[in-house]
Amino acid sequence: MTQYSKRMVIAHWLTLVLLIVAWYFGHELDEARHEEGAPLVGYVVHALVGAAVLLLALARLYFRSKDGVPAPIGDTPMDKVAKGVHSLMYVVLVVLPVSGVATVATSDVGKALKAWDASLLPKKFSGVFAHNIHEMLVTVLIALVIVHVLGAFMHQFIMKDGLMKRMSLRK
Ligand code: HEM
Ligand code: HEM
Repeated sequence: MTQYSKRMVIAHWLTLVLLIVAWYFGHELDEARHEEGAPLVGYVVHALVGAAVLLLALARLYFRSKDGVPAPIGDTPMDKVAKGVHSLMYVVLVVLPVSGVATVATSDVGKALKAWDASLLPKKFSGVFAHNIHEMLVTVLIALVIVHVLGAFMHQFIMKDGLMKRMSLRK
């Protein structure tokens, strides 16, 4: 096996797209809540996209156990770091959406959604533990993705070892 399975590749790139959309909506909601007021529908879209990220992460773990993965490209300290970053990304892809659900459940966002009344949205999330975790995990994920992408680019443009092909649909 020299490449990830087709469904692993599709799920990988779809996750990237969904993360950009989830991040954009989360950021816009945060800004809008401080300014003119955030639209409730934005919370619903953010939650649905975030939930899709969670489902895809679980699906990927299932696919990888069924389809297998290409053999490690090497065993250098950098390869070990890359493996660790992959594992941490899977953890964050599961815990981040869960912390989002917990934010809704333990803050006034839940009340606002239930009553469908945006005036009930919280002015601040002070004291909402799940929101602190959600915010922190967004930063952790961004840092992990930066390291991951720099690694991928290093393989592609400096080492030129064809690693990117492993995550591609092209044979
Ligand atoms: C991987 C998926 C997700 C990403 C990348 C993500 C990203 C973000 C970002 C960047 C923010 C703005 C920073 C902040 O206020 O903390 C945010 C806020 C928030 N997210 Fe998520 N999120 C995800 C999943 C979810 C899910 C599944 C839910 C709920 C079911 C959720 C609920 C919220 C709530 C309630 C806020 C607060 C928005 C506000 O400031 O009014 N998130 N998220
Ligand atoms: C431009 C952005 C990205 C590029 C170029 C990229 C590239 C790659 C490549 C080439 C691999 C295969 C590595 C190998 O065979 O050892 C890979 C694996 C992986 N990528 Fe990405 N990736 C990107 C974005 C992301 C994002 C946003 C995430 C999720 C947060 C992610 C999560 C993963 C994970 C978890 C694996 C390991 C798959 C497994 O073994 O199950 N990637 N990526």
